[in-house]
Amino acid sequence: MEKTYEMWPINGASKAKRIKWGSPQNQISWAYMKMLREGNKTMKVYDINPYVEVYQFRENMYGLFNQNCDGAGDVWLYLIIGPKKAMLIDTGFGLGDQKGLVEKLTGGMPLIVVNTHLGPDHSFGNVLYDKVYCSEYEVDNIKNRLKPGAWDYLFDENGNNIWLQFDRKDLPEYKDYELVGVPDGHIFNLGDDYDIELAWMGGHSAGMSMFLDRKGRTVFAGDDICSDVIGCGSGPKEGGFYNEFCNLTTYRDNLTKLVARLDEFDYIFPGHFMVNLENYLMLNILEALNEIIADPTCYDYKVEHVRSTGGTRVRMHKFVKGFSTIAYTANGVYPPEG
Ligand SMILES: [Fe+2]
Repeated sequence: MEKTYEMWPINGASKAKRIKWGSPQNQISWAYMKMLREGNKTMKVYDINPYVEVYQFRENMYGLFNQNCDGAGDVWLYLIIGPKKAMLIDTGFGLGDQKGLVEKLTGGMPLIVVNTHLGPDHSFGNVLYDKVYCSEYEVDNIKNRLKPGAWDYLFDENGNNIWLQFDRKDLPEYKDYELVGVPDGHIFNLGDDYDIELAWMGGHSAGMSMFLDRKGRTVFAGDDICSDVIGCGSGPKEGGFYNEFCNLTTYRDNLTKLVARLDEFDYIFPGHFMVNLENYLMLNILEALNEIIADPTCYDYKVEHVRSTGGTRVRMHKFVKGFSTIAYTANGVYPPEG
């Protein structure tokens, strides 16, 4: 019999309902999401997109909660309203009228759309927009994955949903759009002095990037920070581009630069689970990264990880003090030689 994991349902307001999960999530993330989704006073679901729970985290910043259409963890997209433009960080699977929802929340402001990285749960909605920005190291990786038929793996041979129940017709059709790569440190201006900086990290994927909202003093961390598992250092991705950056050493080196700027931001909003984390959490992540790099056998435990895209792999987990774990594989610690 197929191995399944039981996690008690969360009574969320989204129209989509969970069928099954891949790897189980940790208890602190699960309890946090239950409290948030069942009790947060700012949460609203708009008629224009019944799949998205909208949370207002700041006066000018919303978290758009999307259930993951595959078996991995549910996903946060973020919408920041600047003086003249808005920015959407990540696009999910593109389920429902995401663009219409964003327009409703911004009142139709000009919109800059960016991706933290290539994950289908972060970038497949790109086809809803004309132009999307990401790290220069992620452009080919996203193009490699987001193609006609990219959503097919969410359904079985009879066309039934495997992981999450939703109407297939509410997924977007593939269309060409412009994907623009930018270098580390690129500034996006939302009007006046409202600047948001792309901070390239690598680690989880080659072009994985965080976004530093200098005015809002917030970092949007994508999947390099996560209260469940920081799945970084999985090593080179088959068929991937810039594979030399998919490792913990690259992430450690880039995070060290960001940690030197801790006085420029106060809070961290990751791509999954717990949000509004304090900036100095990064010191604990950095400490764990340094320990692994000094001795990759210092892990706390090993787990066979079920991949949403099929198959399993064994990953080593190292605790981050007071938070989560970093999961890595043997070939995901150091950059490849040569
Ligand atoms: Fe993700």
